[in-house]
Amino acid sequence: MGSAAKIITFGISKGGCSKSTTSGITAKLLSANKKVLCIDMDGQGNLTSFLTGEYDICNVFENKTVLEVIKEENAKPYIVNLTENLDLIPSNDFLATLPRVMYQEKKGLNVLTKALEPVINDYDYIIIDTPPNLGEQTVLSLSTYSPAGSYAVIMFDGSMFCYYAIPKFMDIIREARNRHNNKLELAGILFAIIDGRAKENNAMTEIIDEEYPGVRFNNIIRRKAATRRLPINGFEDNKELSSALEYYIPFVKELEERVQ
Ligand SMILES: Nc1ncnc2c1ncn2[C@@H]1O[C@H](COP(=O)(O)OP(=O)(O)O)[C@@H](O)[C@H]1O
Ligand SMILES: [Mg+2]
Repeated sequence: MGSAAKIITFGISKGGCSKSTTSGITAKLLSANKKVLCIDMDGQGNLTSFLTGEYDICNVFENKTVLEVIKEENAKPYIVNLTENLDLIPSNDFLATLPRVMYQEKKGLNVLTKALEPVINDYDYIIIDTPPNLGEQTVLSLSTYSPAGSYAVIMFDGSMFCYYAIPKFMDIIREARNRHNNKLELAGILFAIIDGRAKENNAMTEIIDEEYPGVRFNNIIRRKAATRRLPINGFEDNKELSSALEYYIPFVKELEERVQ
């Protein structure tokens, strides 16, 4: 392979905006013809469960998570192979101790950059899912540098609460860029779980376009039962898979163009 992976982090400091669903589906779709490593930076482990089908994450991934990667500053021993082109660094509830680990072991915000160095040339993309807050896990993710570029996708569910979270997330991006990661860029704001019948969403797209011209992804992820059921039905032998992925296929194309 040779060249380094592009890092794409999905985030917003609000829960239920499709961060985990979107990072999982994006990784899966990219892995059709690219080498992809997912990193679960949320202790809820939703991305881990989504991609592995494993819900007993505390036991199954005990001492085999991104927390150990950070402690040992080496990703390599903790990479789980899922399919030919898709790998995962899992998380579980013990990630809640990350701030204490970072403080006690005097880890800097470049720790994930260091930990990924041995493997960064093995992938085309590294996809990071983050928790719904602007704490250590999110800042650490955004601070992770790649010579090929790091990108943030801001997830937006069209709600008022989420609208006010956007400028805060942009501040965190700016901070991370200035302090640790001069290659960090905003890939865009992605509208997700959007209900076609909710009229206020049209107003929201107009507001976002006016405030942040050109930032919004043209593709919008609409609310779909088949997408919601994907963690139940999985990606194999799923009769409604193409319906579940309908809005994601053009989005992932647009994302790849934006991070060129
Ligand atoms: N496009 C969609 N249509 C319907 N439900 C969705 C869609 N995307 C995500 N969901 C559901 O919405 C909920 C929140 O999604 P999730 O990915 O867990 O968000 P977050 O990681 O931001 O908290 C989950 O139950 C998920 O299955
Ligand atoms: Mg999540």
